[in-house]
Amino acid sequence: MLLGTQRVNARGHLEIGGCDTLDLAREFGTPLYVMDEATIRGNCRALRAAYAKRYPTSLMLFAAKAFINMAICRIMDEEGMGLDLSSGGELYTALKAGFPLERAYLHGNNKAPWELELALDHGVGRIVLDNEREMALLQELAAARGRVQDVLLRLSPGIKPQTHSYIQTGQIDTKFGMGISTGCAMNGLRTALTMPNLRIVGLHCHIGSNIMGLDSFEMAARMMIRFAAHVRDELKLTICELDLGGGVGVRYTPDQEPPSAEDYAEAVITGLHDELAKYDLPPLLLLQEPGRSIVGEAGTTLYTIGTIKDVPGIRRYVSVDGGMSDNPRPALYEAKYSTLVANKPEAPLTQKVTIAGKHCECDNLIFDADLPDVASGDLLAVQTTGAYNYSMASNYNRFTKPAVVLVNDGQAELIAARETLDDLLSHDVIPERLQKSCAACG
Ligand code: LLP
Repeated sequence: MLLGTQRVNARGHLEIGGCDTLDLAREFGTPLYVMDEATIRGNCRALRAAYAKRYPTSLMLFAAKAFINMAICRIMDEEGMGLDLSSGGELYTALKAGFPLERAYLHGNNKAPWELELALDHGVGRIVLDNEREMALLQELAAARGRVQDVLLRLSPGIKPQTHSYIQTGQIDTKFGMGISTGCAMNGLRTALTMPNLRIVGLHCHIGSNIMGLDSFEMAARMMIRFAAHVRDELKLTICELDLGGGVGVRYTPDQEPPSAEDYAEAVITGLHDELAKYDLPPLLLLQEPGRSIVGEAGTTLYTIGTIKDVPGIRRYVSVDGGMSDNPRPALYEAKYSTLVANKPEAPLTQKVTIAGKHCECDNLIFDADLPDVASGDLLAVQTTGAYNYSMASNYNRFTKPAVVLVNDGQAELIAARETLDDLLSHDVIPERLQKSCAACG
């Protein structure tokens, strides 16, 4: 399987964005996250075009949690995307990258006062309120500033899409949002309407992540519009914006067929048009906020193969120089990945092995990977690591986070430097009573 701009070049090596992956590994070291700029931009454009042609009043947001740093915020700005920000840290990153925050939506189920203050003080376009505690807090902070803040309310439509249970979020039993069927959503709106410094402009839902079927997206669109009609009748409130979240899956393995941007837009907008007409509602601003489907397939992680160990008659473990600190998804969600040996991607596949990480854990990255003959020193490329890998990376076992390079048209540019061993120590504090004078601790 080759994705995006991946191809096998004249040297017989895996190339991404016109860059030979062996050169990338030599220049930047491994493990290395490689992000394919053309694929990221192409995904933004395909999504925007698919929506714009069916429903002109739409705005596409990128769910920054999938992959965020300052360079990506710049790309999203250039592509005319908005941003879905899920924390003060993501907001601060966008702010420092010069992203126009009127196109930002701040999410979260337990926002801290400082996060709301940061949003208010820097003109974040919309705050998506999850619950009544947040409403009261925002009302107080906005009033203190003499501001009226545009808000959306996050609802739970009661839809359980087909995906790993840890990433289902649209069902009634969830920490996210206010349930429609439980009455919490209508009560929440009533409460918000009593708050003079909040202007309710819209409703939001996000039913889950890595979803391959389109039915649940269409169903969510229909249910949210029905609820908007109910709100109009009950509260005389016009809903001007509807944010239907993200959640479309990507291709991790060759057998997977994720929906295209066109199919996604078609399903959602068919549901939307039908219900708007049925309930005689005026058109509203439609938002979607995908993360994985924008950056997932654009990312490849390069690792150097080290120890190769046979458990006789049972399994061969091929260990790489990273693991669960740069990709926790197999451990968390039993996620599957595909792989190529970057220095010989076309060599005949001769064996089934387990790709293991190097943590003090059973941090297998891929069970039953089909590989050619490999030796220590070969370069392994794990595909579709652009979403929720770098953004979920940790320093477990005091591993340093890998560098990220952006590749495009034969050019490779660092967009996140590799952490150093001293970075690991930079937040450590030894209280004076525990200090001992030794050459090493200075
Ligand atoms: N909007 C909201 C409110 C969300 O919570 C999420 C993802 C998205 C949009 C973007 O969803 P996407 O299009 O990326 O599926 N760490 C997990 C995924 C967690 C998703 C969290 N929310 C994983 O690695 O699979």
